Amino acid sequence: MRVIAEIMEQQPLSHPARDVWWMCLKAPSVAAQAQPGQFIMLKLGHTTPHPLGRPFSIAGVNDEYIFLLYKQKGAITDLMPHLNEGAKVILWGPLGHGFDLRDDKTPLLLIAGGAGIAPMLFTWQRFSNAALLAGFADWHNFNRLSVILRELRRFSPPIPAGPDTLLTPESVYITNLSPYWSAGSGLVTDPLLNPQNSGFIKNHNSVLTCGPWPMMKRVAAISREYGISCQIAAESPMACGLGVCMGCALPAAQGDYLYLCKHGPALQAEALDWNRLCL
Ligand SMILES: Cc1cc2nc3c(=O)[nH]c(=O)nc-3n(C[C@H](O)[C@H](O)[C@H](O)COP(=O)(O)OP(=O)(O)OC[C@H]3O[C@@H](n4cnc5c(N)ncnc54)[C@H](O)[C@@H]3O)c2cc1C
Ligand code: FES
Repeated sequence: MRVIAEIMEQQPLSHPARDVWWMCLKAPSVAAQAQPGQFIMLKLGHTTPHPLGRPFSIAGVNDEYIFLLYKQKGAITDLMPHLNEGAKVILWGPLGHGFDLRDDKTPLLLIAGGAGIAPMLFTWQRFSNAALLAGFADWHNFNRLSVILRELRRFSPPIPAGPDTLLTPESVYITNLSPYWSAGSGLVTDPLLNPQNSGFIKNHNSVLTCGPWPMMKRVAAISREYGISCQIAAESPMACGLGVCMGCALPAAQGDYLYLCKHGPALQAEALDWNRLCL
């Protein structure tokens, strides 16, 4: 579905870099249908020299509004912060398959790396018993995330101060890869390897993850060891987002390929041939 959406608000999540942004768009038809893990293609209208849209996960929904969390990476994302309130953009969406959440009674364990937190936030908003484990290469890039978390759930969840804080359901556990925390305990997957947390992990029948490929590969392997199902939300480059260009192919476990915009972006981890992915 193609819609014209109005920008209601933008705020930087990062300080002082101001390169991670939270955007609120008025898009009632998209908001009404969106499911966690789905994405939109966003195009900046006819005044820019960039004819293709760019994919962004839906990071949350409120009434007739959708939220995006984006990191400046290049041509389009560098232009987006300059859009004022009231500016109009073109959206297609919601697109793709979101997470398979049919068994919504199961407590979910959400594991995010960097801007991969976007689809996790929407899932976390929908599932009140989900635990969120998030890692950031530079925490300062996301240091205003707590504001967003509050906005999404309309209460202030406990945000532990450091990686040694115990994981508990309902908690947000922030790990940090910056030198301060990197002394052997900085990866977002580290708490999963700590035997003290094994009881907590086994309480979850389903892991959802989004972030850099090596991180998702590790999460998939650990989930397999625990016998817990794992779904990923992949963020490979896309051109059309509509299943036409074949530019988003990923090697499938069954041979041949899966197309991210059509079969994903949320996929069962075991649907991919991780050995054929060039990580
Ligand atoms: C399903 C999906 C959901 C996504 N959700 C989000 C999100 O919620 N927040 C967010 O910040 N980003 C997200 N991305 C990534 C986002 O689409 C890219 O960062 C964006 O397209 C870059 O556009 P650009 O014009 O600014 O950069 P470009 O000028 O097109 O490229 C800048 C650099 O980024 C690289 N690049 C382009 N696209 C991607 C990509 N998809 N993944 C990794 N590197 C890329 C290019 O190779 C280049 O090095 C998502 C991608 C997909 C496929
Ligand atoms: S992006 Fe064109 S087929 Fe998937």
